[in-house]
Parts: sequence; C-alpha cells; structure tokens
Amino acid sequence: MRVLVTGGAGYLGTHTCLSLISAGHEVTVLDNFVNSSAEAVRRTSELARTAIPVIEGDLLDPRALMKAMDASQPDAVVHFAGLKAVGESNTEPLRYMTNNVTGTLQLLEAMEAADVRRIIFSSSATVYGVTETVPTREDHALSVTNPYGRTKLVIEDLLRDIAAADPRWSIGILRYFNPVGAHPSGMIGEDPTGTPNNLVPFVGQVAVGRHEAVSVFGGDYPTPDGTGIRDYLHVMDLAEGHVAALDWITAHTGVDVWNLGTGTGYSVLDVIRMYESVSGHPVPFRMAARRAGDVAVSYADANKAAAELGWRAGRSLREMIEDHWRWQSANPDGYER
Ligand code: WQD
Repeated sequence: MRVLVTGGAGYLGTHTCLSLISAGHEVTVLDNFVNSSAEAVRRTSELARTAIPVIEGDLLDPRALMKAMDASQPDAVVHFAGLKAVGESNTEPLRYMTNNVTGTLQLLEAMEAADVRRIIFSSSATVYGVTETVPTREDHALSVTNPYGRTKLVIEDLLRDIAAADPRWSIGILRYFNPVGAHPSGMIGEDPTGTPNNLVPFVGQVAVGRHEAVSVFGGDYPTPDGTGIRDYLHVMDLAEGHVAALDWITAHTGVDVWNLGTGTGYSVLDVIRMYESVSGHPVPFRMAARRAGDVAVSYADANKAAAELGWRAGRSLREMIEDHWRWQSANPDGYER
C-alpha cells in the first residue's frame, strides 16, 4: 500500500518507514523537521535501498498537507507528527494543543477530503495516568497528568467519535510504553534536541562522556531497588508493531487500540548496569529527588496485540542497549543537523 507517514523523519518515524518498506509498502514522509532532520530520511532511504519521498511541511499548513496528500496518494496514514516532551508541555500547553490537536484535525480533514479513511495513530501509555494496576491493559481507566498526555487523550477520543459517526473509517491507536534502542546498523537512532529528558539517551551520553553522571530521579519508590520501573521496548519491535496494525486496519473498519510494550519492567539501575555491561564504559550516577509526574511502576499487558495483531516484542533489554550504544558511539552528535 501507499502510506503517508507524518513525522516520518523522527526517531519512531524513520524506523517505522524502514519496516513498512521491508513489508512491501510504499512510503512518503511529511515532516516539518522541528525535531528531526532530512539526514535521517536520507540514511533511512539508504538502508531501505529505495529513495523515500519527503515533503517538508507542517500539518498546520493546508498547502503542505494538500501537497503531501496529492503527492503520496495514500491508502493509509501513519501519524507520528507531534510535540512529545512532557516537561515542555507543562510550560507551553497552548503550543502543544495547537500543534498536536489542531494539526491532527487538519490531517483528518485532508484525509476525509481525499477519501482516505485509514489511519494508525501514535498514542502513548501516558494516557493511563497514574496506573492502579500493572501490567496495564488497554481497558484501564484513562486519565492524564500533563498537557502532552491530554493532547494524546483528546486525539484518541476524537478518533473514537469519528469511528462512531462514520463506519467507513479504519483506525488503529497504538499506545507506546518506552521506545528505546536503534536500528542494528547504527545508522539511524534517537537524536534528541538538547539535553535528553529520557533515561536511555541520557545514559548513552554519559557513557560517551557528554555528561558526568546520571541523576536517578528517586531511589525511594516501592520497587525492589527503589528506582522507577518501566517497560522498555526496542524501536524495531515498535516499528514492526505498526506494520501489523496497518494489516489489521486494512482488514477491518472501526477503531481499536493496542499497547506496544514487552510486558516486562526494568528499573533505572537495571538500565544503567546494562549500559555499563554493553558499552564497557562506567556510567556514574547519583540519587536525586523524584521527578514530578513520574509513576513508580509502568509496564504493559501486551497480550491484546499478540492475540489480535499477531505481534509481540521479541528483542531483549540487552539488544536494545547494544543497538543504542552502536548508534550512540558511532554518532556522538546525532545527525549533526
Ligand atoms: C524512565 C525512567 C525516570 C531520566 C516518557 C514520557 C512518556 C513517553 C516515554 C512520549 C523513569 C527515570 C529518567 C533521567 C531518571 N514519551 N529517569 N533519570 O518518563 O517513563 O516516559 O517517555 O510518549 O510520555 O513520560 O521515560 O525515559 O523519561 O524515564 O532517573 O535522567 O527513568 O524517573 O523512572 P518516562 P523516561
């Protein structure tokens, strides 16, 4: 199928483009490069052995959107484009709502106008809020604790409303837990702008000497070693999950939602120790105060995607860190935008 990938130059977008092409789909990228680079798509094209068409543009620009729809003539859209920093969203809620929600509205309007009614939406486990039960299933109560999470929940609710109003739509909502790692080639990977908020890219930068130590946000959680537990998921497993979800929405109408996680949780100290073991470099750390908004434990019940999509994450934490380290050590300054 022809697939338009919004935000396709980003970390998750590039890896998903690669898996979509490997599965025989034709991909076009629409990206405004606010948090990504054209170099990432160039390298992805090299890995895919096919030139990936890129339209530089913003979902808030109707002309760019129309150009992308006309050029790609998509059978489906995989929608990653959006701002995703929880902390930043607390200080810039309006920018997050406009960019993420209004941008998605514009995209859906353009799809409707072009008779394109298949979409995979990039959501997040953040919509589960402070989880009462782990592992967390898709029918867990939804609540949000920050503006970023609210944009994801608002978009999910909008997609459910659209599906209820018009049975021609086929909508897959994917709730990511903690995507980490990189393509095993080491050519593409996560390239955060500025100092990384997320654990694994920060640990990688400590391992290459860009920072002195990791601040461990909280050592007094009710967990075995006192540090936060998360469901880290290899980005290639996440990418393959999108291919499986696209197959599902191609065969079904209506809307459905799946967790993309491994179902296994690892602590901050587990990750730090794994990084030291894989890289052979020390990763000094210091215990620090808990980070506002963090939950103690979060990991997925991944059985729904396995049962319905035939998808289950297969890559281990060691593989995630090996692949991240290969990317990090080969590209200490990322794509050097
Ligand atoms: C992981 C663990 C921290 C950094 C976030 C977003 C979520 C999603 C994925 C978009 C936690 C600890 C972290 C550090 C630390 N993004 N930590 N020192 O917070 O689980 O999820 O990214 O959808 O919406 O909330 O990921 O990598 O920031 O933190 O101790 O320097 O590492 O407390 O326990 P998180 P994270």
